[in-house]
Formats: sequence, structure tokens, C-alpha cells
Amino acid sequence: MEPTMTATLTDHVALVTGACGGIGRAITATLRSAGARLALVDLDEDALESAAADLGGGSDVATFALDLTDDDQTEALPGRVRDRFGRLDVLVNNAGTRQVKPLLELSPADWRATLDIDLTAPFVLSRAALPGMLEQGRGKIVNIASMAGHVAFADRAAYCTAKAGLMMLTRTITFEFGGRGIWCNAVAPGVVETPMTSEYFRSEAMVSSVRRNAPMGRWAQPDEIAEPVLFLSGADSDYVNGTTLFVDGGWTAGKGY
Ligand SMILES: NC(=O)c1ccc[n+]([C@@H]2O[C@H](COP(=O)([O-])OP(=O)(O)OC[C@H]3O[C@@H](n4cnc5c(N)ncnc54)[C@H](O)[C@@H]3O)[C@@H](O)[C@H]2O)c1
Repeated sequence: MEPTMTATLTDHVALVTGACGGIGRAITATLRSAGARLALVDLDEDALESAAADLGGGSDVATFALDLTDDDQTEALPGRVRDRFGRLDVLVNNAGTRQVKPLLELSPADWRATLDIDLTAPFVLSRAALPGMLEQGRGKIVNIASMAGHVAFADRAAYCTAKAGLMMLTRTITFEFGGRGIWCNAVAPGVVETPMTSEYFRSEAMVSSVRRNAPMGRWAQPDEIAEPVLFLSGADSDYVNGTTLFVDGGWTAGKGY
């Protein structure tokens, strides 16, 4: 018998930040294919319009242009999504930034800028989304962390620290709300080919590092991150809570040489 495809997120509303980036576009396409209505969040309205059009547009996809480091606007976002769609079931904290700079050249302002986007914005947005999810009796948060929150990389002190913090935020949310219909999990990608990492693939040193360190010998494409996000957004993962799923081709399983 042919396996039947189920639209696992029918009637669900998902808010995805960083929706115009490489991984964000793959996540939104995958959640949309699973039947979710989508709130796309990113910095630039034109880029959002183009991302929405690529998803088929229509009334099931809404765009919200804002800077997630603006606490007031970020806090107001879940309410705006509920006003638009009537509910909010899934929050994917995907927007992120990364500075590659030796620690001695990293200013306190640089440090804060990275932590504001990669760690504080997911906290502010989760905090604002939770009351509505609790009222609904069910809600799922998926944080896009990084293997860099688990293993250290030189010249990325703020990024590694922010992603480590995001994995711990994930666990604390589960501990506080896991008994009340809330799931919070993280996905920790390895190296993924997106605008954030495009410069890697021009450097032979980085390409050979990926081949050496990831047992699978290759980097990922954004779709390979989106499918695990779909799993953690739907009911198939209902006994998975407070965990980080490493999607890194085995990089963090051991030590490369
Ligand atoms: N690409 C990788 O190799 C990789 C590896 C591990 C983790 N990640 C994580 O995956 C996530 C997505 O990364 P990507 O590779 O798709 O990057 P990307 O640069 O392609 O996309 C990031 C998106 O976030 C948006 N964004 C940044 N700051 C924002 C702000 N202040 N307000 C609103 N939107 C903002 C950007 O406009 C962009 O569209 C990030 O959290 C990143 O840290 C990426």
C-alpha cells in the first residue's frame, strides 16, 4: 500500500523569525507544506513580500517586518499574530547573527549585538508567546541553536555563548512549562550552506575542516534542518521536551583529526 502523506500542521499557526534567510526559507516552505498558516518575521518588508510570494502568498501567509532587538515590537508580535490568525501554535526562533572576530577585537557593543539577536530576542518572544499558548492548552517552541553552542570555535565567543544560552533557555522553559502543555526544544545545526556561511565555501581551509570534522564529510542544505524542525513542531514529537537535536552530520559525536 502507498504511504499516505499527512498534513501534520493543518489548522496550526506558526511564527517563524528570520524567515527570509537560508534556513528560514526552508523551514517556512516545509511547515507550509505540512498545512501550517504562517507569520513570517524578518527585517525587510520587500524581502518578506518576496518570501511570502514564493510560499504561494494568499491569506494563509502574513508578514511582519521588524527588528527583533526592539523589545517592545517583539513583545507585541504574538498578539498581532493572534489578531491576524486567531491563534499561535508554533514559535520558531530562527533569526540569528554571527560575528567572526578574535575576542580581543570584540567590543562590548559587538558582544551585546550578537546576544541581543541570538539569545535575548528568543527569550522576549517566547515570554510573549507563552500566555496565549497556555490559554490554548498547547504550544510548541523550537529554537534554532547551533553546534557552536556545544563545542567551542575560535573567533566566535559571542555567538558560541549565545547559542549555549539558547540551549539552556530551551531546557528552563520545558522545566517551567512542560507540565502545562508547552514543548520547547532546540535544533542545533552543523554547517549549513546559507547566506550566513556563504564565505566558508570560498575558503579551502573551511571546506577541508568540514570534510575532516563531520563524519559524513559534507555540510548540510537548509531542507535538512527544516525537516527536524517540522518534527519538533508537530504531534509526532509529543514525548520530546527540553532537548537539543543535533543536526550536524555527526560533527559533535566525537573529535575530528
Ligand atoms: N548556516 C549555518 O551554517 C548555521 C549553523 C548553525 C546554526 N545556524 C543558525 O540558523 C539560524 C538561521 O541562519 P541562516 O544560516 O539561515 O542565516 P541567514 O543569515 O541566511 O538568515 C538569518 C535571518 O535572520 C534575520 N535577522 C537577523 N537579525 C534580525 C533582527 N534583528 N530582526 C529580525 N530578523 C533578523 C536576517 O535578516 C536573515 O534573514 C541562525 O540562528 C543561525 O545562527 C546557522
